[in-house]
Order: sequence, then C-alpha cells, then structure tokens
Amino acid sequence: MSSFVNSSIGKKFFMSITGFFLMMFLVVHLSINLLLLFDDSGNLFNQGAHFMATNPLIKIVEPLLALGFVLHILYATYLTLKNQKARPVNYKKADLSKSSSWASRNMFVLGTLILIFLVIHIINFYWQLKVSHTVPGVMVDGVEMENAYGLVAGLFKASLIYCLIYITGAVFLGIHLTHGFWSAFQTIGWNNDIWRKRIEFVGKVFAILIAVGFSIIPLYFLIKF
Ligand code: HEM
Repeated sequence: MSSFVNSSIGKKFFMSITGFFLMMFLVVHLSINLLLLFDDSGNLFNQGAHFMATNPLIKIVEPLLALGFVLHILYATYLTLKNQKARPVNYKKADLSKSSSWASRNMFVLGTLILIFLVIHIINFYWQLKVSHTVPGVMVDGVEMENAYGLVAGLFKASLIYCLIYITGAVFLGIHLTHGFWSAFQTIGWNNDIWRKRIEFVGKVFAILIAVGFSIIPLYFLIKF
C-alpha cells in the first residue's frame, strides 16, 4: 500500500480521488447556494441550509469531506516540495509554456490562493453557524432554524470588499479546475486522443459553470441591494 501511494501513479491517483470528491462537493454546495437568488425572503435558502445541517447522511459525509480537503492540500504540498527538490532544471530556465497550460504549471499557487479564500470563508459562515453559534434563529413554516440567509446576504450587502474576495475566490477555483478536472480523468485512464479532447472540453465547461455560479451570488447582492 505504501509503495503504491509513493509511486508516481499512486500520487496522482490520490490527488484525483480527493479531487473528484471535492468536485462533487462543489456541485452540491453551489446548488444549495443558488437558492439565495430565488427567494429574497430567505426562506428557501434557510430551508436548504437547515436540510443540509440536519440530514443524517450529510452528517456522515461532512467529516469525510473535511478529511478530503485536508488530504488533498497536504498531499499537494508534499508533492510540490518533493518535485522542487528532485527537479534538475529550474522551471524558469526551461520554456514549458508551449507544452503545458498556465493553470497546470500553477496548480499549487492557485490551490494556496483558494486555501486562503477558504479560511476567510469558513470564518465568515461556518464558524458562526457551527462553532460559535452566534447566528439568530428564524421560524420557517413552523420550524425553528438558524437564519443562514441573513448571515450570507448581510455580509454581501454590507461589504464590497467581501463581494470581491468571493468573486476572486470563484475565479481562482475555476482556473484550478480547468486543469484539475482533466487531470483527474486522465489519471484514472481516460486519456486516449478522442476522450482527451472531450474531457478537456467538459472540464472547461464545468470550471466556467463553477466560477460563474459562485460569482453570481455576491454580484446579485451587490447589484440588487
Ligand atoms: C458565493 C459563494 C459561497 C457561499 C454563499 C457559501 C456559503 C456557505 C455557507 C452558508 C456555509 C456554512 C454551511 C453550514 O455549515 O451550515 C459554507 C460552508 C462551506 N463552504 Fe461555502 N459558500 C460559497 C463558496 C464556497 C466555495 C467557492 C468553496 C470552495 C472552494 C466553499 C467551501 C465551503 C466549505 C468547505 C464549507 C464547510 C463545509 C460545509 O459546511 O459544507 N464555499 N459555505
């Protein structure tokens, strides 16, 4: 097992599996977050957030997700440091710009910027909802729940800076995914000529949908309120 994890394919496989897992999380997270745009009373989003917070299956998946994030980040750091030590020719000296995309050469930098965004994001929302419990309650259809809508909408309505941070975070995430999506599929073997082009295309569409989807939310509050 340890020789597989340390082998070249083992390392990429590990990044791919955790990456797939994170991509599924992004689809679910974005779907729930888009409810913010369809009901300005906040009831719809509050119900969605309450469902996610109380559903027993999600309660099992959430710690696994956190583990997925941590492993993806730790392993990426380990690989980057190891590659830097092993690389005989400095990237600056070799012209790799023709044979690889900017995103593929800067996955670690992009990942680090996303991590910085994620720390800010967790402090903004998760911490208050799940750790400090400082979010006021609200009644929706006779059920008491935390006013997650008030928290999110309140931040975006009050702060241009936070809106810009969230839009920038979404764009970095999109660029990271343009390479990450394709790379994850390539590692599990879908890398012949026909599939390569198809997966590259689907990866770009996926990355754009994620970047635009997450950016639309702060933009909506910025423009409408
Ligand atoms: C407009 C954009 C976004 C909004 C409005 C938003 C909203 C939220 C909210 C309200 C929570 C707390 C949910 C709870 O625990 O009850 C949360 C948690 C979280 N968000 Fe976001 N989010 C956004 C973008 C992102 C992005 C781009 C990422 C990934 C890079 C992300 C990753 C996470 C993670 C890992 C958690 C903690 C796990 C969880 O509670 O599901 N979010 N987000």
